[in-house]
Amino acid sequence: MKVLVIGNGGREHALAWKLKFSPRVQAVFVAPGNGGTAADPDLHNVAITDFNALADFVEAEKIVLTVVGPETPLAGGVVDVFRARGLRVFGPTQAAAQLESSKAFAKAFMQRHDIPTAAFATFSDAAGAHAHVNANGAPIVIKADGLAAGKGVVVAMSLQQAHEAIDWMLGGNDNKLGVVHNDGGARVVIEQFLEGEEASFIVLCDGKNVVSLATSQDHKRLLDDDEGPNTGGMGAYSPAPVVTPNVHAKVMNEIIYPTIAGMAKDGITFTGFLYAGLMIDANGQPRTVEFNCRMGDPETQPIMMRLKSDLFDVLMHATDGTLDQVDLQWDRRVALGVVMAASGYPLSPRKGDAITGLPDDADEAMVFHAGTAAVNEGVVTSGGRVLCVTALGDSVKSAQHRAYEALRGIHFDGAQYRADIGFRAIKR
Ligand code: AMP
Ligand code: GLY
Repeated sequence: MKVLVIGNGGREHALAWKLKFSPRVQAVFVAPGNGGTAADPDLHNVAITDFNALADFVEAEKIVLTVVGPETPLAGGVVDVFRARGLRVFGPTQAAAQLESSKAFAKAFMQRHDIPTAAFATFSDAAGAHAHVNANGAPIVIKADGLAAGKGVVVAMSLQQAHEAIDWMLGGNDNKLGVVHNDGGARVVIEQFLEGEEASFIVLCDGKNVVSLATSQDHKRLLDDDEGPNTGGMGAYSPAPVVTPNVHAKVMNEIIYPTIAGMAKDGITFTGFLYAGLMIDANGQPRTVEFNCRMGDPETQPIMMRLKSDLFDVLMHATDGTLDQVDLQWDRRVALGVVMAASGYPLSPRKGDAITGLPDDADEAMVFHAGTAAVNEGVVTSGGRVLCVTALGDSVKSAQHRAYEALRGIHFDGAQYRADIGFRAIKR
């Protein structure tokens, strides 16, 4: 059978790579894909992004299943378009995707349904936002409302930083963030600063049943020791030891189930991946920092390396409403991925640098491509996060060692990567 993965990042390379191993899958298309999916003879890039043109392609090729990777097509309603045409697609509808596409929607939702999260207030006027910051003090968190790929968040450690962030996000015509808002206006959400350790908690929902994936942890800051600006993610590993069995149960009972039930109560059936970005405090109490309606990137890369079950089979159950029949099997080893980002990332990544020294795919180490493009001369950088070098090992340390070994031979000018991916788990 044929499947389609929509997207062009490292997450989509990992999903497509995993799908190709299913004995029931005869071809995997990736739209539009990247240099990594182009180089794999089992994957086929398709240069289509328009939703109706994609649905035409799916009909013409008799593709049985489409899985949507990134938030942008989900927020744009690709699932609604496919469903209206009777096509099998895994992902949330446009209405459900608001949990991610609007921070204001998500915060109001969590408040309404008693889902643990940071206290917050929403502002569209800069004066009100500045006054709120002055009244509450720092540290405090300022977030642009709208999709900003993890970059529209400033964790302000001082009042000055907080005021600057407000001006940056609500600064009239020179809104440097360039966030496109649902209703055309700029808004910020200002949040209480939460202390603790973060984890990524991702589940599959079929509208009724929920199956949790292996836990993971991302590294959002650009530089070692969690310094520097927030990024889309500089590396990840699975499992995340901070999610003990006790914490896992709390997350399911206090966050995941109430979210699915709350959406249903609000008239929205949730289908797709639901990703709760958690902050877990010293007492093991999880709070939701954000929701995403998709898999994480780069979390998907280590998670897919650990998944032993047939992903195609799982997604067919997920689109049939029979996830209750699924019992996911995981490799007991740790998987750890290190992102290599382009020069200038995250603000203005440079494109077109030649990438050399890419190793062949191996059972224990995979280089998943993100911002790469295939050109006549080989592979070049074409986006902020370029590669995610991912490896399996018996411990976090050995997975880390193997990932950095694989990374060592890869070169492109200006490459940026952290040298400490996995440090929290190693410290434990
Ligand atoms: P978000 O895009 O909402 O996930 O925020 C990006 C990152 O900012 C998160 O992964 C956290 O590291 C940090 N962050 C966001 N909200 C808070 C908060 N309320 N308290 C502490 N850190 C936060
Ligand atoms: N790695 C964070 C995200 O996918 O949102």
